[in-house]
Amino acid sequence: MSNRDTLFSTPVHKLGDWTFDERVAEVFPDMIQRSVPGYSNIISMIGMLAERFVQPNTQVYDLGCSLGAATLSVRRSVQVDGCKIIAVDNSPAMVERCRRHIDAFRASTPVEVIEADIRDIDIENASLVILNFTLQFLAPADRLLLLERIYQGMKPGGALVLSEKFSFEDAEVGELLFNMHHDFKRANGYSELEISQKRSMLENVMLTDSVETHKARLRQAGFQHSELWFQCFNFGSLVALKAGAA
Ligand SMILES: C[S@@+](CC[C@H](N)C(=O)[O-])C[C@H]1O[C@@H](n2cnc3c(N)ncnc32)[C@H](O)[C@@H]1O
Repeated sequence: MSNRDTLFSTPVHKLGDWTFDERVAEVFPDMIQRSVPGYSNIISMIGMLAERFVQPNTQVYDLGCSLGAATLSVRRSVQVDGCKIIAVDNSPAMVERCRRHIDAFRASTPVEVIEADIRDIDIENASLVILNFTLQFLAPADRLLLLERIYQGMKPGGALVLSEKFSFEDAEVGELLFNMHHDFKRANGYSELEISQKRSMLENVMLTDSVETHKARLRQAGFQHSELWFQCFNFGSLVALKAGAA
């Protein structure tokens, strides 16, 4: 059982910007489960996407892997010769726990957990790349370059899974889905204080885009095809394809 997230249940005197530190890593499974609608569906369906897209003798990248939930889902679903999973995160607290987590389960597909900024790593020979709620933490100016590097490092027939919190071009719909997310967190036991303290910490570090902006950026990066394959309120996941035979 993971520890319950009570980090912001009492008033915090000076709310700084959000970081993925030791305290967050410790409660992360509970936090993401109670904060991101559809998270466990997305994790298990990443396994289904992996079954379809992972090719022999290629690499899978889990960028911003946190504790390795998507990596474990891929590893459970894939038995492909010569495949390796590379999981990357720049939070030492996450990486340390992720390594322990991965080592706790046995499987034939090797996993390398790397502590690094995802903007600095080489991406090569990839058949599947996962950005599960990570791109939103990159400065908007850096997002296209990362997607271009992913596209360049991807094999024809490969796929990118891009899960994000979305903003909406239609203000009415945006407000409805924002409020439904608020209800979701309340229903999961978060108080108004917890919700508002967390929101103000995330304000400067998590800048969301609309689905249309994501699709346009993916196209600009080279991906010939992209579509939303999952959505729950203002959270969802896109799949982007690199054309060509696998
Ligand atoms: C919301 S969490 C991702 C959740 C995770 N992918 C999952 O499926 O459970 C975002 C993660 O991205 C990492 N991150 C943010 N910016 C990063 C960067 N520039 N390089 C590497 N990791 C980054 C954070 O440390 C954090 O662990």
